[in-house]
Amino acid sequence: MGRMGKNHLELLEEYSNFANVKAVCDLSFDNKTEDLLKKYKVKDKYFDYKDLLADALIDVVYVCTDIDSLCEISMNAIKANKHTFCESNLSKSPKDIKKLMEVLKTKNLIFHVGLNKRFDNNFRSVKDVLVSGKIGEAHIIKITSRDPDLPSLDYLKKSGGLFFDMSVDDFDMIRYLSSFEVEEVYARGGVLIDEMVKEYDDIDTAVLSLKLSNGTLCLIDNSRRATYGYDQRVEIHGSLGMVTTSNELQSKAKIYTTYGVIAEKPKYLIIQRYKQAYIIQNEYFFTSILNNKVSLSSCNDSLQALYIALAAKKSFEQNRSVKISEVKHN
Ligand SMILES: NC(=O)c1ccc[n+]([C@@H]2O[C@H](COP(=O)([O-])OP(=O)(O)OC[C@H]3O[C@@H](n4cnc5c(N)ncnc54)[C@H](O)[C@@H]3O)[C@@H](O)[C@H]2O)c1
Repeated sequence: MGRMGKNHLELLEEYSNFANVKAVCDLSFDNKTEDLLKKYKVKDKYFDYKDLLADALIDVVYVCTDIDSLCEISMNAIKANKHTFCESNLSKSPKDIKKLMEVLKTKNLIFHVGLNKRFDNNFRSVKDVLVSGKIGEAHIIKITSRDPDLPSLDYLKKSGGLFFDMSVDDFDMIRYLSSFEVEEVYARGGVLIDEMVKEYDDIDTAVLSLKLSNGTLCLIDNSRRATYGYDQRVEIHGSLGMVTTSNELQSKAKIYTTYGVIAEKPKYLIIQRYKQAYIIQNEYFFTSILNNKVSLSSCNDSLQALYIALAAKKSFEQNRSVKISEVKHN
């Protein structure tokens, strides 16, 4: 029942015709959370997730804890025969993800990893244009992915680090947009926003250069602080043309004066910017369960993105280009 847990609780209200949130779990509940539980008429509240999993009336579980416990809780949810939606990214350990994939093979369950950018309308349109052939072969893919501000110290401590918490979603986006695997990565990073980030052995700014198996070159830039809002853009330059997206603004209002034209800032919070993507994602998840179809963002997608994050970390630490094959023995 942290930030993402509350987000899912509110969004699930849209599906109240055929699904209700029966129970929630957290280590503690503050007054704001208690009010939310009353508002959405959530019946049961647990402090140990295993007690929640023991409830046979529960069919579907959303796991929205820190990266250190996502995989373990998801594994136990699968063992308890629950269809599971796990927030990204599953784990920092390829071994743990592989173990989970083995258990999943023995069950007839849907397991969805919340790689929500895959479900964003703008990014999907960019992919559709590439697939249609209108811009020819992809030569360069550029992703700008900047948060509006540093997260809380508490979050930073448990985030797993910038490559695993933030860049990892952009690695997945590169794979999703291109339909090719990443072969090699070169990462540069620094602490340019706040010295306090060094205390967590982390960075707050990164630039990554990647090469795909078909030769496409990619660039990602990440910053924990963009003073003007949540900056989320992609661009593909191809042999026949270019496709790009712009940010979603807080409103479409523009002010025209003798000094120039002023537009609104980009939407500020992830939950505002990706609301539509979360709704579409839930629809895919529920449709997958109802029709017993494979989910569109799987454990393997999470595993492949993790390999790129591990290679990026190694590249940053050793100041050299790292092939993904170097970290795949993990
Ligand atoms: N898909 C995305 O784009 C995206 C965006 C943001 C966050 N995330 C991921 O979602 C997860 C949650 O992020 P958040 O911002 O909500 O974090 P948060 O810190 O606000 O919430 C995490 C919650 O999990 C609870 N928790 C931890 N261990 C628990 C346990 N054993 N049992 C029950 N509850 C437990 C904590 O008390 C806290 O309330 C993280 O893993 C994060 O990386 C994904």
